[in-house]
Amino acid sequence: MFLNGASVGFDTVNNKAVFIDQTLLPTEYREISTDNYEEIYDAIKFLKVRGAPAIGVFTAISLAVLMNKSKNHTYESLFTELKDYCKKLILCRPTAINLKWAAEEMIKIAEESNAENFKTNLTNQALKMIEDDIAICRKIGEYGAELLKNSNSILTHCNAGRLATVKYGTALAPVYVSKENGHNIKVFADETRPLLQGARLTAFELCDADIDTTVICDNMASFIMKNRLVDAVLVGCDRVALNGDTANKIGTSGLAILAKHYNIPFYVCMPFSTFDENIKTGDNIEIEMRDGNEIGEMWYEKLMIPKNAKTLNPAFDVTDHSLITAFITEKGVIKPIEIKEYI
Ligand code: MRU
Repeated sequence: MFLNGASVGFDTVNNKAVFIDQTLLPTEYREISTDNYEEIYDAIKFLKVRGAPAIGVFTAISLAVLMNKSKNHTYESLFTELKDYCKKLILCRPTAINLKWAAEEMIKIAEESNAENFKTNLTNQALKMIEDDIAICRKIGEYGAELLKNSNSILTHCNAGRLATVKYGTALAPVYVSKENGHNIKVFADETRPLLQGARLTAFELCDADIDTTVICDNMASFIMKNRLVDAVLVGCDRVALNGDTANKIGTSGLAILAKHYNIPFYVCMPFSTFDENIKTGDNIEIEMRDGNEIGEMWYEKLMIPKNAKTLNPAFDVTDHSLITAFITEKGVIKPIEIKEYI
């Protein structure tokens, strides 16, 4: 095993990008090592690697791996090849800004390089992004743990845990840090249709960490809140606009509306790499639309919907900033209207 508790990694000895194939969890844990562009594209597109921060760091690692094995020698040809990979990879998950962010960070480094140090600089940048992600999530965990010090249980959606970052996670980091501090917080995990990141991944990693975990179907959240079974809702994010509007896994905005109704705090855990200072509001966020077969076929032995029924499969929705109590970030706990002051 190369990863040792991380979700993605860089095997610099063999020049391979390493990831856990999350589509196999919770029944099978398999690490994949690759330097193959098609396999990398496929891993991101089909959610073998998923979660905005993990996608970003994995993109950086993959770009370094691909460029390390490049046969090009001149600066111009190396730079063109890098930009070409970035262009294609950015398209495969349009909502998660971390993918674009990571590609742009790698291009910036390439712009400051020459033919001799091009590959080493990209490798070092990818390694730095791994370390930065771990440190940032740790900070989110510490600020979140402080905020939750009087809470017994939370509700979360999708998977914004260690599998969605390099380590710790964002929305689950406060739970992990609280546990280290001797404070056990119970977690209700929405199963998160259609790809079941909550049931398969959040429950897997929390149970693995010995955290009290209850999986609920998505349509049970109102029951949980009405009966005061949770003290707060914590979710991750895929892109945050200047005004604090937040794109996250489909179903998040419904939870925020319910939380407001039941007067339960709704926190978005956000590394600043997920903040998009180029867009004013959530209306400008492109929503990834995925294949409808994920709804009626993918997880079932038999077709679950009539053959001629249509499907609509938006992967994300946008939560209005007015529904968000605060962002828990590596820079502290910040109100939506103040977020742009922290860039
Ligand atoms: O489609 P996914 O599984 O990549 O969606 C993931 C989410 O929506 C997460 O909440 C988000 O990326 C934050 S992960 C720290």
